[in-house]
Amino acid sequence: MPFQEKRINRHPVLCQPDAERVEFTFNRQPAIGVLGEAVSSALFALGIHIFGHHHTDESPQGMFCANGQCSQCALLIDGIPLKSCIVPLERGMDVRSLEGLPLLKDLPGPDVFAPVKLQTGVLILGAGPSGMAAAIELGKAGIDTILVDDTARLGGKLVLQTHKFFGSEADCYAGTRGIHIAELLAGEISEMDSVDIWLNSIVLGVFSDGTVGIRCADGYRIVKPEFLLVATGAREKSLPFPGCTLPGVYGAGAFQTMVNRDLVRCAERIFVVGGVNVGLIGAYHPLHAGMTVVALAEALPD
Ligand code: FES
Repeated sequence: MPFQEKRINRHPVLCQPDAERVEFTFNRQPAIGVLGEAVSSALFALGIHIFGHHHTDESPQGMFCANGQCSQCALLIDGIPLKSCIVPLERGMDVRSLEGLPLLKDLPGPDVFAPVKLQTGVLILGAGPSGMAAAIELGKAGIDTILVDDTARLGGKLVLQTHKFFGSEADCYAGTRGIHIAELLAGEISEMDSVDIWLNSIVLGVFSDGTVGIRCADGYRIVKPEFLLVATGAREKSLPFPGCTLPGVYGAGAFQTMVNRDLVRCAERIFVVGGVNVGLIGAYHPLHAGMTVVALAEALPD
């Protein structure tokens, strides 16, 4: 086993779940990760931060958003170029660095393309706090609703948030940790007979005839909703500066994903840019995980 694991084994809020270890290979070397974790997190847990080099200037590429949005984490996985932060690790995977532009493999298409077609009152895209709150209100009114999310779990960014929320207790569970708010909302939704939950389901397109194409775990479905509610959340953004795409520069959401969702020790020393709520929280999470925050820089005097 040539790699040394970098995982967070002690945390004041989170516990390392019992997880099944599986073997895979990285650049033909044997490696071990946790079954079902993001391939990118499995590599980070092995101390591997450079996933390949860009085809234009050969700059090293790694993680930035950890949320399937930027493509910086692309790797060849079983011969196919994929965003490794949204691919669950499986036993025996052949994972390789992506150097330059990949060649696309010839893959057989289906013999017959026959998507399942269905209708609903409301289709909600995104099962974060907004999508879940909407599903609860629609469920209370008995309206047929489908709640779709591309991840395996309800909650969106709440599942990364180990801190207690501020604001109003009545409106947004102030005083409760985000991870627990996700569980509370998920519990409420599970009581709603008119709400169907589709996890691991990726919306591929909203078409001009009002239908929505969704790749679900069991195949492609086309949904015709009366109303479409888009609750897909925010995108990870960064300040543009020389080197801002290099491995080691992360968006706050990516950092929270690796540290709080996947319990991966993605760095030893952290420099935080920005001291408003996200920057402060971004500095608080690594302290919990036993990492060193060397400094936090903020342009404002407070
Ligand atoms: S798409 Fe994976 S890090 Fe952005």
